[in-house]
Amino acid sequence: MNANIAAVGNANVSPYCGQIRDLIYGVAGIFHTDNRLGFLEDRCSRRMKLLNITSLVQYYELLTRSAERTTELHLLLNEITVGETCFFRNQPQLGALQRLVLPSMVAAKEKVPFKHLRIWSAGCSTGEEPYTLAMILLEEAKRFLRGFTFEIIATDLNDRSLQKAQEGVYGDYALRNVSQEMLRRYYEPAEVKGEFRVRDEVRKHVKFNRLNLLDDARMVFVKSIDVIFCCNVLIYFDGTSKKRVIQHFYNNLLPHSYLFLGHAESLFGVHDDFRLVHFPNAMAYIKTPIQR
Ligand SMILES: C[S@@+](CC[C@H](N)C(=O)[O-])C[C@H]1O[C@@H](n2cnc3c(N)ncnc32)[C@H](O)[C@@H]1O
Repeated sequence: MNANIAAVGNANVSPYCGQIRDLIYGVAGIFHTDNRLGFLEDRCSRRMKLLNITSLVQYYELLTRSAERTTELHLLLNEITVGETCFFRNQPQLGALQRLVLPSMVAAKEKVPFKHLRIWSAGCSTGEEPYTLAMILLEEAKRFLRGFTFEIIATDLNDRSLQKAQEGVYGDYALRNVSQEMLRRYYEPAEVKGEFRVRDEVRKHVKFNRLNLLDDARMVFVKSIDVIFCCNVLIYFDGTSKKRVIQHFYNNLLPHSYLFLGHAESLFGVHDDFRLVHFPNAMAYIKTPIQR
């Protein structure tokens, strides 16, 4: 028995789950603690059923040694990522962005000739978060953002979620926090009764891409960001993978720019070069440039 198999402390799951846990952790940073191994085994068995595979050992071989291993890993990642989200999910945080952060960025860019904002929704799931951000910026486009252009970069690991995001059609559950006024302004009725499509005016500002936050080679290319939203993503990561992602965020942000995390997430013990700022019922981190 090798070290990984011995490390599994949950007697109810196959010991080979430990191998698959390590594989997923190494690729995507998502760490399944012993009490989450049952969930992982369940998601593997969904794939195994479709593939007519009966043992986890065989499935592990497919994930690691076959010609289809990269594709199969993508498909397994689609099964295991948790995509819970909705429009206007964290209202105090969005209020802070709209009323405090954006005006301060506009003031900071007063003397910059090319007035542009780049906002990144990292771990955007099915698109509700980046579309919400685009709507907020459109709300201000005729006020203090007059003269500014903006783009929302929206990335996720799960290509099934990204496909839904690109379609931009949503039902009641996703729309539960959207006011009638915002619904009228930024959505139109879709083919299915009760569903709404995000209007093109919003969609044209959002660019979706598959990006694994643990992919160091690609993370370096997301440059000159004014605000990052990475909400409810890092809760699935352990300390080491969090540190790696946050260091990329630090490098990707412009000086004095903002990072928003989910309300159960913090940079405590993860990174020292951000300053915590408090807003009413919300908080964010500002990139403080290192003094040399
Ligand atoms: C709970 S959703 C959060 C959605 C949105 N940010 C929000 O707060 O409403 C978490 C998302 O993180 C994505 N995710 C998890 N690990 C990732 C990784 N290594 N790289 C990119 N996205 C990842 C998942 O696919 C999922 O869509």
